[in-house]
Amino acid sequence: MGNLGSLNKYFVRYKWRLLLGLAFVSISNLFAVIPPVIIRNVLDQVQSNIDTYHMLDGTALKSDMNSYVFKLVLWNGLLLLGLALMRGVFMFFMRQTIIVMSRLIEYDQKNEIYTHYQELHTHFYKTHFTGDLMNRMSEDVSRVRMYTGPAIMYSTNLIVLSIMCIWGMLRVNPLLTIYVVVPLPLLALSIYIVNRLIFKKSEKIQSQLSDLTTTAQESYSGIRVIKSFVQEHNMLRFFTKTSEDYRKSAINLSLTEAIYFPAMNLFIGLSMLSTVLIGGYLAIQGKISAGNIAEFVIYINLLMFPISSIGWVASMIQRASASQKRINEFLHTKPEIVSPADAIKNEVKGEIRFDKVTFTFQHTGITALKDFSLHIKSGDRVAIIGRTGSGKSTIAQLLLRMYDPQQGAVLVDGVPVKNYDLQHLRTQIAYAPQEAFLFSDSIFNNIRFSGKDATERDVKHAAHLADLEKDIAGLPKGYETVIGERGVMLSGGQKQRMVLARALLKNSNILLMDESLSAVDTQTEKRILENLNTYQKDKTTIVITHRIFTLWNFDKIIVLDHGQIAEQGTHAELMQLNGKYAALYRHQTETAESN
Ligand SMILES: Nc1ncnc2c1ncn2[C@@H]1O[C@H](COP(=O)(O)OP(=O)(O)OP(=O)(O)O)[C@@H](O)[C@H]1O
Ligand SMILES: [Mg+2]
Repeated sequence: MGNLGSLNKYFVRYKWRLLLGLAFVSISNLFAVIPPVIIRNVLDQVQSNIDTYHMLDGTALKSDMNSYVFKLVLWNGLLLLGLALMRGVFMFFMRQTIIVMSRLIEYDQKNEIYTHYQELHTHFYKTHFTGDLMNRMSEDVSRVRMYTGPAIMYSTNLIVLSIMCIWGMLRVNPLLTIYVVVPLPLLALSIYIVNRLIFKKSEKIQSQLSDLTTTAQESYSGIRVIKSFVQEHNMLRFFTKTSEDYRKSAINLSLTEAIYFPAMNLFIGLSMLSTVLIGGYLAIQGKISAGNIAEFVIYINLLMFPISSIGWVASMIQRASASQKRINEFLHTKPEIVSPADAIKNEVKGEIRFDKVTFTFQHTGITALKDFSLHIKSGDRVAIIGRTGSGKSTIAQLLLRMYDPQQGAVLVDGVPVKNYDLQHLRTQIAYAPQEAFLFSDSIFNNIRFSGKDATERDVKHAAHLADLEKDIAGLPKGYETVIGERGVMLSGGQKQRMVLARALLKNSNILLMDESLSAVDTQTEKRILENLNTYQKDKTTIVITHRIFTLWNFDKIIVLDHGQIAEQGTHAELMQLNGKYAALYRHQTETAESN
């Protein structure tokens, strides 16, 4: 239960709503416990008047008596109606305060989690699954809400109503009270047990359902692969089995649920029965009146719902506690990469230095860069070439400070990247990542993503630089075309250029392109490089590629191998060296000629 303590700050924040809500719960219950007393009075009076009525047989007073009883019943009936209405009004207020408070807390909590998601380092996302992270924000938060809202409301209701009813009962007859109240905790316990059973079963069903959905989803999105590998039958068999398991569990659950309500009614019936039996016996002895029996029956009725909700509330609190534990675990994960206290926010000119950097990915133990040193002067054009897995993208990741190296330092303008304000550093570097990620939004918004205050002209210029104009003009709604989930409507090369345009819009002094032109044809590549030639004139440009660009004269070309520099120099120097670069160059020109 300790986990739920972290919610107290929210209760403090909404203390007035909470207190008011608790007051409303109490007031609404007050209107619930007055009616039994009135009913008892009326019944007792009617009973004694009936006796008198018979005694007045044959006298003129008899009709007076008649109208007296009628008025008694009428007025008290109206009073009961008024009380019921008042109870309803206060129940409405109770929900408006406590349930609304729980919704506000839910909103705050989601924001807190989301803000934390944004701050966490890249490494965290490599080790946690998206589904799990989504769950914490939706499922877990809504389970916690069941505690901050309904659980608190029902518990208070139970406590207040129990005190009021039991006090009312004790005033009538302590012995009868004990007989009637003692079995009630048994009812609560059995409901708790059945509830847990139902919960366990529905959890299982939930996970089966999510398996089923995943299978269905994968077969829809991977339909082409399934068909081309002729796996329709296997997929269908797998799906049928998952769906059969789900069916069995669902039927099993409905069986348990079917027992739930009849069992509850049985307990209620038994309690009523003993009230009438024992009460009747006491009434015959003259210890209580007949009206008292009716009063008792109403008290029992009032108590039944809150008592049967104990089991329900208890399991609700347990679940909330487990969910809050998961949320706390997440919130207590500290971001590993944060801005220092006196962070630097200078505009970056573009000098970059890697000083004996060694970097190992923690969770795989793969050393992506070993003792890597590199100096790039402001305004230089540098190419980083290497085989797949040689560590090229890692250089980009370290420059953007997605990770911190274990040894050595990365410096921009002579200042370690660790000393910069993290967000400032990232806004200063235009980065076109290798993985072209687009949002299911319009082309315009996807390009403008990097700068919210960019004008339409800026966006169009960026699209022009990335040679996207013709492609966009060919689309039905131009810039306003919505490109589908992750940009499914675009070709691989179009996506790459969208990502490039998005980076170019930033107009930063450092441009970092990671395989940005690998999926475009030579003509398009030529046009883009020509555009960039002028645009990037005095700015630092780093091109990560596995293909040599002969159109550009790089100030420096680095050949990376297993996280280390194998060769470096200008094109002419490397050709003269006649090593890996020269071999790659020859291979590339030969294949180009044979095509
Ligand atoms: N997030 C990661 N977690 C663990 N290991 C990683 C991660 N990213 C890359 N690696 C490993 O680090 C090494 C270098 O990867 P990197 O992405 O820098 O290669 P690359 O040169 O960009 O390759 P490619 O040309 O295929 O993009 C590889 O061996 C890779 O398996
Ligand atoms: Mg890469």
